Amino acid sequence: MKVTIFGTGYVGLVQGAVLADVGHDVLCVDVDAAKVAALQAGRIPIHEPGLQPMVQANQAAGRLRFTTDAREGVTHGRLLFLAVGTPPDEDGSADLQHVLAVARTIATHMAAPKTIVNKSTVPVGTADQVADTVRTVLAGRGAQIAFEVVSNPEFLKEGAAVADCKRPDRIVIGTASAAAEAQLRELYAPFNRNHDRIVMMDVRSAELTKYAANAMLATKISFINEIAGLAERLGADIEAVRRGIGSDPRIGYSFIYPGAGYGGSCFPKDVKALIHTAQSTGFTPELLLAVERRNDAQRQTLGERIVAHYGGSLQGKTIAVWGLAFKPETDDMREAPSRYLLQALWAAGARVRAHDPAAMGEARRIFGERADLTLCESPADALQGAHALAIVTEWKIFRVPDFEQIAQRLRDRMIFDGRNLYDPAVVAGHGLGYVSIGRPGVS
Ligand code: UGA
Repeated sequence: MKVTIFGTGYVGLVQGAVLADVGHDVLCVDVDAAKVAALQAGRIPIHEPGLQPMVQANQAAGRLRFTTDAREGVTHGRLLFLAVGTPPDEDGSADLQHVLAVARTIATHMAAPKTIVNKSTVPVGTADQVADTVRTVLAGRGAQIAFEVVSNPEFLKEGAAVADCKRPDRIVIGTASAAAEAQLRELYAPFNRNHDRIVMMDVRSAELTKYAANAMLATKISFINEIAGLAERLGADIEAVRRGIGSDPRIGYSFIYPGAGYGGSCFPKDVKALIHTAQSTGFTPELLLAVERRNDAQRQTLGERIVAHYGGSLQGKTIAVWGLAFKPETDDMREAPSRYLLQALWAAGARVRAHDPAAMGEARRIFGERADLTLCESPADALQGAHALAIVTEWKIFRVPDFEQIAQRLRDRMIFDGRNLYDPAVVAGHGLGYVSIGRPGVS
């Protein structure tokens, strides 16, 4: 099928590559000319396992193309995907300017019936707004062309985006139109082989499903972080508790890892936007407000522990930081817990030596040159001359470290672990102090 995708961010680019990979004819449109030029040359602006070879192979096969030409984009696809960003507005609501700008562009150039498919995370009611926008522009042109607006939210995770997109556990499609349903069923047929993954519903329910899914996952994380705080005060071990509750299939093991709080471009923004949506209807979302408050506190906790350990000031101290990305297998630092940690360390007077396997370039872009930050090429290099080590991202290479080397290099022999990577007894066996989340500390 001929498909056009507006927006080559995470969602648009991955979706475009995966749809091309199963044989669809995909054109991706973006207003950022430099980004489009890079993509045309097969260069991928994000770190995402498996994406680069998939993009290059499908470009070579002629099934995946990139352009800044919106008119060509509108003409090409029978299905037009909206996959542009919805950043938070000042009040926490999702900013729809990019979504509505694409809607206007589509309506301006449309010469034949189109199905507009919204993949961006947008508040309930946005499909109606998109339809109104298209209708208004078409009326201004004096054009009468049929169109549908469908909601088809995306559930991929960064770092596993290609795999998630190739093997979705569900495909949510919100539309009341039988014709649009048939088109989307045809589009997704290659992903729907062994059992039916398509969940059909009305447009508004599909829009709410996206927020409900992310809010539920964020709730699980804030819940376990809250119990971790309790475990610390009661002398219990959150890792034992986690395994104990996860073994109940009604609870499950996933998304109950305690840590330095959730970050990324989705959970913080989506929880905020859902709170805003709820409040705008006069409804107080008690649970979501608490989920957000717990996470705000959780992202401060690692920094607070380090500062408290040193009696309130980090003047003259150098802290090694392992992990900057908001999670492993990505270079994304949006809303990353590491950013809160670094601010807390700097505010207390520390110097930081940081390493991340993928996000060094991103860190350079965000922080620029600073006397109190050294970006180090390896985990071992970050330890050089440092007093203590803080771990914020659970990259695999941090999981089995050389504890002897850590003990030799760290002047104060202290590890502050925001991801509970190690067995406290093993760390203590190497003569290191160890503070983690929700477990008895050794310091
Ligand atoms: C999240 C959802 O998991 C996807 O399903 C969704 O499609 C996506 O948002 C989106 O809306 O686009 P993502 O933000 O890529 O995906 O990352 P996650 O793997 O969900 O992790 C989010 C944060 O939660 C990370 O900071 C991670 O460290 C933290 N986390 C996750 C925990 O602290 N504990 C856990 O047990 C799991």
